[in-house]
Amino acid sequence: MPYYRSVGEIPRKRHTQFRDPDGRLYAEELMGVEGFSSDSALLYHRHLPTAIVDAVAVPDAEAGERATVANHPLKPRHFRTPDLKWESPADVDAVQGRRLLFGNGDVAICYVAATTASPLYRNAAGDELLYVQGGSGVVETVYGALPVGDGDYVVIPTSCTYRVVPEGDDPLRLLVLEARGHIGPPRRYLAAKGQFLEHSPYCERDQRGPTTPMLADGTDVDVYVRHQAGVTRYTYAHHPFDVVGWDGCLYPWAFNIRDFEPITGRVHQPPPVHQTFEGPNFVVCSFCPRKVDYHPLAVPVPYNHANVDSDELMFYVGGNYEARKGSGIGLGSLSLHPSGFTHGPQPGAVEAALGVDYFDETAVMVDTFRPLALGEAASACEDPRYAWSWSRRGPDR
Ligand SMILES: [Fe+2]
Repeated sequence: MPYYRSVGEIPRKRHTQFRDPDGRLYAEELMGVEGFSSDSALLYHRHLPTAIVDAVAVPDAEAGERATVANHPLKPRHFRTPDLKWESPADVDAVQGRRLLFGNGDVAICYVAATTASPLYRNAAGDELLYVQGGSGVVETVYGALPVGDGDYVVIPTSCTYRVVPEGDDPLRLLVLEARGHIGPPRRYLAAKGQFLEHSPYCERDQRGPTTPMLADGTDVDVYVRHQAGVTRYTYAHHPFDVVGWDGCLYPWAFNIRDFEPITGRVHQPPPVHQTFEGPNFVVCSFCPRKVDYHPLAVPVPYNHANVDSDELMFYVGGNYEARKGSGIGLGSLSLHPSGFTHGPQPGAVEAALGVDYFDETAVMVDTFRPLALGEAASACEDPRYAWSWSRRGPDR
């Protein structure tokens, strides 16, 4: 629920005649969530946003492998995204090249190292959240463009047509969350009318939205639409980036993890202080470089914990993660600590952290309230020894 925004040209009154310089009417489109009962935007198109000339079901093989296997036997797991390889690394895009790491009925969690521009795309089944682990690029949307780089979260509303264009020599590395619903700031950070409250670790000044219209010409333009039954490729009579102006409270926005202001305490603070977003049956938290617990006898790393009602996925993106020292976890690693398994710091991490007053660590955590199953990409980059890293011996040694 970002704030009201107005970009480009719009008529003074909604639902009134609005014409181009040649006298032709623009086509008004309402993009609204929850029927007509929640946030929305009004967009003004040069062409009819309804004019499709073809609709084709994309074969599953082309749409990406989405099968999963249960985390069974139930284990804590470690995955190294730097080990993920693509057949043609110079020709990977952020839509068709994304690979499924984990999924359940609420969210699919994918990863991609994108090197080339994606096709036009939208997700009709829910919002998407991109986290930029590295590289830079532009997320071009029907609302305008968002330049993005290292540490950016990008919230893309359901049914927002967009494409991702990497820039520079390095791949644009993205963790992609495809939700089956809407993603936004936690409700408890917001006043009744939606303003961020004083205790929120970020606020409106940290959010970035499109600033100018995104206009492109073209006819017979393909758009890939992910929906609950699969992926359909529409061909539009005219390029969808034809919006001369829009206004409202529903649009894509970005927020950099470095703008998240950590909440600290004399003793260890629980993960909800790091919460950044909430989605349907999941939350996203940002662990940022911070002063740590300053009670004279504080234990700065977490206590062992049984996350009874959630699977806890941690993506390690910067610095050194003190509690995981000795586990094999490095930058680009993902740990999965499922419900039913008590997890905590690796042996020696508590003692090593005593007296430390600053942690240089950055991690993105996704806690899901239903178990995560493992996708193709998880199997391709798993470190099978992790489950035994607390005892330092496993069944074979
Ligand atoms: Fe944990």
